[in-house]
Amino acid sequence: MAFGLYYARSHISMTNISSNIASRLLRQRLPRVCVAVIGKNPAEMVTKAEDFARDNPFIEFRLDYLPQPVALFPKLKGFVEYHPHVNMIATCRRANNGGRFKGSVAAQVDILVKAAAAGCQLIDIELESATQLKAASWEKLRKTGAAIILSFHDFRSTKNLDKTYQKMCTYPADFIKVVSTAQELHDNVEMMKFLERRSDERPVIGLCMGEQGLISRLLSMRAGSAFTFGAASAGEETGPGQILARTLRETFRIDQLDVSTRVYGVVGDPISHSLSPVIMNTGFRRENFNAVYLALHAKTIQDLMACVRDIPIHGLSVTLPYKEAILKYLDRTDQMTTKIGACNTVIRSQDGKLYGFNTDVAGVIRPLEQRMALLGAKILVLGAGGAARAAVFGLKDRGADVYIMNRTAGTGQKLAKQARAKFIQRKQLSKLTFDCIINATSVGMDGDLGKEKEQPLLTEKELNTKFIFEMVYTPAETKFVKMAQAKGIPVIFGSEMFVHQGARQFEIWTGKPAPVDEMQRVVHHALAQRGQAGKK
Ligand code: ATR
Repeated sequence: MAFGLYYARSHISMTNISSNIASRLLRQRLPRVCVAVIGKNPAEMVTKAEDFARDNPFIEFRLDYLPQPVALFPKLKGFVEYHPHVNMIATCRRANNGGRFKGSVAAQVDILVKAAAAGCQLIDIELESATQLKAASWEKLRKTGAAIILSFHDFRSTKNLDKTYQKMCTYPADFIKVVSTAQELHDNVEMMKFLERRSDERPVIGLCMGEQGLISRLLSMRAGSAFTFGAASAGEETGPGQILARTLRETFRIDQLDVSTRVYGVVGDPISHSLSPVIMNTGFRRENFNAVYLALHAKTIQDLMACVRDIPIHGLSVTLPYKEAILKYLDRTDQMTTKIGACNTVIRSQDGKLYGFNTDVAGVIRPLEQRMALLGAKILVLGAGGAARAAVFGLKDRGADVYIMNRTAGTGQKLAKQARAKFIQRKQLSKLTFDCIINATSVGMDGDLGKEKEQPLLTEKELNTKFIFEMVYTPAETKFVKMAQAKGIPVIFGSEMFVHQGARQFEIWTGKPAPVDEMQRVVHHALAQRGQAGKK
């Protein structure tokens, strides 16, 4: 018989009752986010802990990152004296189990016992070590009076959660921590269902690692996880996909998430570059709307749709490559979306029906309307893909005189026919003047710079227009923009379109006007930061 099982059966009545009371009390006052702190030496670790002590008084000391974990404890005692309100977890994860500690299980236990003596109220030991512990070692750990977190990490997948949990329950731990890896978005749902099933039985901590695990890192607490983990700073993540503790609190407002919080997201593949979470979460916070907005990296649309149903997700921003593919999953789309043949906004009604809209149209129309009357305005749209279709149909709807030019003439002509616009050849350009020329091609986008070098979209001579509108927003200063600026032509930047399409989504979801200025401000800030990062 495994030792854990024996121990649990023979000691459960006394040890577990008292420790469960302790852990329940502890859970009640634990903050939602525990910041994982690493460091090359004790001084660095304590300095970082000092930085977090006020705003995030729950810290995990990753002792396994230190060459000499015990060297931390004299400093830790000093820290505790000045910060008695801070909750502290001591973790000394062994290298075999995803950590860095190279010592034996006995040495690990010894370090955890000393950490508790130095003031850590919680100690973490992984299941793999627990299976090797003798009764005397358990006794040593329990005698410290610290709450024991028994943890298990699956670095490959999310499976057998209940089986793992049941095995873990045979040990006398106060918290059961089960961490898996999300291979697809729906793994988060599996984790949250597991937490819902088990969190009434005993204190559980659960989340999925990996880029696909974002949903559970944020929402697992409302499924019953006692708390979650956040990184101290970028580059210091202690697990794949770990989010900054500050981002969890400030962007995602994790302290306010509850069962009635609505979940929205932007879905695409790839999606990590998207600024939509920044603007939407800013908007929700500003308008006091109880909602959270996540970046969802869906590798298949089936995976996404299963999450929409099971989480449930209340609304989606849809981006490449799903704008067309999503149509067949929707119950209804508005007329404009049907005409364009692409949907970038989904709202889920209370009865679970999905409605699709295309707010790229508003993204094009609103910035233009602020500068000119669209009725009769002469507008040239470059391109005939999804973005161009939204611009062309939207502009025609407002009575503009729309021209289309496209590299592949056939596609351009087809769109012109559908929208009753005019298709023109490049050679006609020098004889025409426009109120605005819109770049709705992908030329100029970050990954497309090489192509742009070979073949500029237009030459300076062909730029006979009062305004240009650059739909590309990363980078902000494309060749098209620079050429217009050199000629003194005012530019409508892609970031403005991005904000307005988002603002319209916000209105559809919340029924409230969007805080456009605030959204614009955060986008500029984020783009400026990106630009600086790019220059480093
Ligand atoms: P989106 O959904 O962003 O509009 P898309 O549907 O792939 O993306 O459309 C891309 C548009 O950019 C198309 O009009 C494409 O022209 P083709 O129809 O000839 O493919 C245009 N495009 C892409 N690369 C281009 C380039 N190097 N020069 C000119 N046009 C280009």
